[in-house]
Amino acid sequence: MKATEQLKAEHEGIGIMLRVVDAMCDRLEVDRFLNDEQFGQIVEFFKVFVDRCHHGKEEDLLFPAMEKAGHPGAGGLIEQMLFEHRQGREYVGAMYDALTRYRAGAEKADAELYTQARGYTALMRQHIDKENTQVFPLADAVLSVERQEAMFVEFEELEEKKIGKGVHEQFHQLLDNLARAYPGDRQV
Ligand SMILES: [Fe+2]
Ligand SMILES: [Fe+2]
Repeated sequence: MKATEQLKAEHEGIGIMLRVVDAMCDRLEVDRFLNDEQFGQIVEFFKVFVDRCHHGKEEDLLFPAMEKAGHPGAGGLIEQMLFEHRQGREYVGAMYDALTRYRAGAEKADAELYTQARGYTALMRQHIDKENTQVFPLADAVLSVERQEAMFVEFEELEEKKIGKGVHEQFHQLLDNLARAYPGDRQV
């Protein structure tokens, strides 16, 4: 498998979780209901799977390889992607803080959680779209199939180092369970 194909497949999984979060926000908006245990698992998914693992593959392996290949358009685009990863990290931190306050019964913590969660899903949707339509086609143009296949192996190693064996599968299980619990009506 090519490295960009693997990242695209991960985007699909992340997209499902974004849809779940929006469905949870819809419920929060309508009847102020929130399953805080499930939301805690989702924040963990964003922190560990999305940021540490998926963004780690992009930041540590794909983007440096693209920069090394020296395409003139790559620099600015990659800068923008790194900036959005940092923004995403801030949203996830803020969601975690708001969730902690919500669990402690703090006033308006649900509204704060709602704002941060909606901000994150909007940011990530457009980020994923930009990577799929601009960044990955550029990577495919400058990196050979052999280089990308080698990178796919490096991805597996990075994942095992950063999140450990079997954790990816646990997150997939979580994704399946939540997608069933919150079918939602939005398109990813
Ligand atoms: Fe990214
Ligand atoms: Fe990505």
